[in-house]
Amino acid sequence: MKSLERSRADIDHLDAKMASLYTQRMATVRDIAAQKQAEGLPIRDPGREQTVLERNLARIADPDLRPGYAALLRRQMAAARAYQEKLLSRAELCVQLADSVCPIYLKDGALQDADRYLELDRRVCIVTDDGTPPEYAAALADKCAAPMIVTVPAGEGSKSVAVWTDLLQRMQYAGLTRSDCVAAVGGGVVGDLAGFAAASYLRGIDCYQIPTTLLAMADASVGGKTALNYGGVKNAVGAIRQPRAVLMDPTVLQTLPHRQLANGLAEILKMALTSDPMLFALLRQPEPPLRDILLRALNVKIAVVEQDERETGLRRVLNFGHTLGHGIEAACGGRLLHGECVGLGMLPMCAPQLRPQVEAALTGLGLPTRAEFDPEAALAAIAHDKKTDACGIRTVRVDEIGQWRLETVQLSDLRPMLRGLLPNP
Ligand code: GLY
Repeated sequence: MKSLERSRADIDHLDAKMASLYTQRMATVRDIAAQKQAEGLPIRDPGREQTVLERNLARIADPDLRPGYAALLRRQMAAARAYQEKLLSRAELCVQLADSVCPIYLKDGALQDADRYLELDRRVCIVTDDGTPPEYAAALADKCAAPMIVTVPAGEGSKSVAVWTDLLQRMQYAGLTRSDCVAAVGGGVVGDLAGFAAASYLRGIDCYQIPTTLLAMADASVGGKTALNYGGVKNAVGAIRQPRAVLMDPTVLQTLPHRQLANGLAEILKMALTSDPMLFALLRQPEPPLRDILLRALNVKIAVVEQDERETGLRRVLNFGHTLGHGIEAACGGRLLHGECVGLGMLPMCAPQLRPQVEAALTGLGLPTRAEFDPEAALAAIAHDKKTDACGIRTVRVDEIGQWRLETVQLSDLRPMLRGLLPNP
């Protein structure tokens, strides 16, 4: 048997060879990108990827090594796709996971030009709601070979089993096959509903997220979370399945009411407080530069999702403010928007010395720092929450801007925090 040192030297040598081969492989990928661009071909070619996978796996004699090698190959192909997207500079950003790449196109006017970015020469079930200007879904439909538009009522009520079932029925009736797709045009509710329909129909078909609110752009449309509310519990049923792509057209934000913009800014403030002091500084400017802050927030979100897609650890940071926020949202009977509740929910989770700065930031962004709601109703909703278990409730705390930690608390610990948010605590 070789000595450990010798074996490690061999590994180093093989790694160096692999690095060199990887560089060569990516140089070829660059040529392929140029050819695809010249011929107008899509970057992703599932048939070709399957062939590469099968042919290479057949080269591995030891069956114990095949699953690991398959994962490596998938990761390599995903990296190649991401590299092509970047080279063709169509995607601003990308969520790159072991077996998927989700390009994020953030372009003014992208909605009018959607077929440049998305594969629309198939049946496309466009899901939107009656709170979203209908011209957005119509603009997308205009670019699709075989579109259908399903408009659901605006609001959380559409994240229900009944609306989801109805949507699946329509997809089935229209004859959508595995190679067809769903496109969500609207805010977070539409994204969750359409995303879950796409994840569950025929065991999963492609989904494009086309968020038209700041909240959905900065957070909900990226990362693959999809959900329905069930049994009185928010997001109780769902799946994590990455969209094929996310298309954001910031021009749609120009007509978004100020309150809706502030709603999205709350989620961006969440990213700033937990992960990005520079983003916090941008948010404190009198007129925060929307595109810059959106890009920074997306970079935080992508980094988190790429490291912890299944929310086993790091991704919990994105729940900052949401434990109390969801409770307040349930208790205030629809008077407050999601972002407004999350903004409130973040305040008591910040260290006392930080709170004046956070209050000032919330006020500056047009978000409330106090609200009228029943703290006991909020506690009851939190007790139902899926993040609550026998050991307590996992919460995210921020002691310094850009630094966060997890803390498990008991339900009763949240009572004074909630009361502190009332107009007259
Ligand atoms: N919106 C929280 C998450 O994506 O994990």
